[in-house]
Parts: sequence; C-alpha cells; structure tokens
Amino acid sequence: MSTQPSLSFPSDFYWGTATAAHQIEGGNTNSDWWRYEHQADTLCQTSSGDACDSWHRYEDDLDIVQSLGLNAYRFSVEWARVEPAPGEFSRAALDHYRRVIEACHRRGLVPVVTLHHFTLPQWVADAGSFEAPDVASWLGRYAERVGEALGDGIGLACTINEPNIVAMMGYLYGVFPPNARGWDRFCSVNDTMRAAHREMRDALRAGPGSFPIGLTLSMTEYHAVNGGEERLATLIEQMEDGYLRAVRDDDFIGVQCYSKTQIGPKGRVDEEGVELTDMGYPYWPQVVEHTVRRAAEIANVPIIVTENGISTQHDERRRDYIEEALVSLHRTIADGIDVRGYFQWSLLDNFEWVLGYSQRFGIVDVDLATFERTVKPSARWYGDVARKGLLTPRA
Ligand code: NOJ
Repeated sequence: MSTQPSLSFPSDFYWGTATAAHQIEGGNTNSDWWRYEHQADTLCQTSSGDACDSWHRYEDDLDIVQSLGLNAYRFSVEWARVEPAPGEFSRAALDHYRRVIEACHRRGLVPVVTLHHFTLPQWVADAGSFEAPDVASWLGRYAERVGEALGDGIGLACTINEPNIVAMMGYLYGVFPPNARGWDRFCSVNDTMRAAHREMRDALRAGPGSFPIGLTLSMTEYHAVNGGEERLATLIEQMEDGYLRAVRDDDFIGVQCYSKTQIGPKGRVDEEGVELTDMGYPYWPQVVEHTVRRAAEIANVPIIVTENGISTQHDERRRDYIEEALVSLHRTIADGIDVRGYFQWSLLDNFEWVLGYSQRFGIVDVDLATFERTVKPSARWYGDVARKGLLTPRA
C-alpha cells in the first residue's frame, strides 16, 4: 500500500475537541430548551435529561482529552445556570466553571470557552428570546460577569456559537425555540446577534485576562442548482457574508462545517446518489477547505475550525472523514492561510437538539444508562495525529 507524503501542521496548532453545556452536562432545567423538550407539541425526540452527566464527570472527560494527546478543549458556560434570574448571578455556577478551567490547565489543555451555545435562561425566553429589545445588553452584562469570574483563566473565548443557526432554526424554520417562522424575523435576529456579539466581545476585552475573542459561524459549501443563483445570493448574505464582514475587528473567526448544500429557486435541494451521513448530509469532509478559504477571504482574520465532524455509527468512516478533512485543511495552511486550530465535534456522543440521542458525533461513546465512556478507535488515531502534529494520509 503506497502512502502519500506526510503533512506537518504548525507546532503551536490547537488540536482539540468540542462540546456544549446543554448537550453534555445534564439537568439544565432553567433553560428554554429544557422547557421546550417537555412541551406537549415539542419536535424533540426526547428530553436532554441527564445527558452525559458531564456537570459531575468533567474531570473524567478531561482525562480522556489529555490521554488522547490533544492540547485544547472547547466547552460552553451555561447562561441559564450563571444568571438564573435577571441580574441574579450564581457564584456557585461560576465557581463550577472556574474548576473546569483549572482542570484544563492542570492537564495542559487550553480552555476554549463559549459563552452562548443555543440555550437561553427561561426569563430571557419569557421576555422574547432574541427579539427581546434588551437581549444584546443582557448578553453584554452576562459576558462582563463571566469575564470577571473566569477571564484570567480563559485561553480563547467564543461569544456566540452559530448565531446564524439560532436565527435560522428558531426564527425561519420554527424548529428550535421559539419556533418562529418568518424571513424578516430571521434577518432581524441576525442583526441582533451581531450587536450582541460586539457587546460581549467588548465586555470580555475590558475585563481581566488577555485572550483571543471571536464568534463561531456555521458554514457550508453552497451550490446553486436549477437556477437557484438569486435565492442563494440572498441566503448566503444572511447565513455567512453578513457575519464574515462583521468580524473584521475580532481576533479570529470560528469556522464550523460539516457538509455541502444545494440551493434551488425554492430553497434546499437534496443531492441524489451520494453517500449520506446519519444526519442526512452528503459525506463531504472537503467542506473544511472551502469554508476556511471563504472565511479567510471575506473576514481576513485568523481562522480556527471550532467544529467539524460526522454523525455515524461506523467509526472507521469517522476516521476517514477526519483524515480527509485534515488533508483539505492542510492545503489552506500550505497556501499561507492563517489557520490556528482544529476541533472535532464532538468529544462525546451527546444530545443532538431535536434529534435527541439518535446521532453519534462523538469520538467517545457514552453509555446513557451508566455514563461509562468508551474511547473509539477514531479518537486514538486523531490524538496520535495531534500529538505528532503530523498526518500521514493513506493512499
Ligand atoms: C453545530 C452545533 O454547534 C452543535 O451544537 C451540534 O451538535 C453540531 N453542530 C452537530 O450538529
């Protein structure tokens, strides 16, 4: 079997894996998602319940990340826990996240802290979620308090995770809370997201510590089909370009990508005859190269791939996917694009929002009855690449 030349990555590259509070902690009862999961008309397959119990088991999770050979861990701080009522901040919740950060440092892992990952405290939802007139300033105040409590330990901060997906799924397609549908509402929430991001970034910058700050954007490789050019131009402005132009004063942009998307005159068109992942997405790891190049060109700031991964029951296919994604990422680095890191979504098989626990994105399996973690072979392979900073692609 012939192999291709080895690809070497920068020595200070962040090699990580990513999670989010609501998807792994369990018992996030004060959030809008928890309420939505328990509504009679919910679209969720199941409640998040105890999730992976990472609220209690984060040390075990971090032991795995360290043992694999990774050097960074991305997780999120839960607003619903930190500010359970307007202006009422929980010292105990902030102390908890401080312990998570310290546990990262003890293991030589850079803590990459996301402040907002999809969920809201119920009091924000009651006030109108991302349509509440004060939501940007509330997020700014929350960021200020998180910065005060944790800033001296943060390695990198992500203000808002995939604001474009929150806007699309929550205000255009009606799938995520608050289950609204309307193009104008979608566009106006995108504007609010950018305003909130600026408030959060400025609050973090003014506080203790000195760490790069950015937002993370869901990106895809769009293609227009059947005359869908006009529709695509309008959509891509809302989903990507408006954000990419807005982050030019940030320290980095987090690129999150999974697959490619065809757009026809009436919207998304399924691609025929291609391999699909368990999410129903085309298997397309090369999306990393496409989105990184696009983000670099428009935003012109350093790039971190803050999420990339595949939902599959076949771990061998996950390994293939990661390898092809990294090969495509390496081409951008070889071309001189300033890429600082790559994070696999996800460390754990976890709560995939409306799809519940049916999806397997983890490089580590979690037994939901016992919470036992089992490292998958793809994780060991990925960790080995990370440890060496060297990828030897199979022929
Ligand atoms: C995007 C989101 O940030 C994350 O919460 C989700 O689980 C993954 N991608 C996979 O869909």
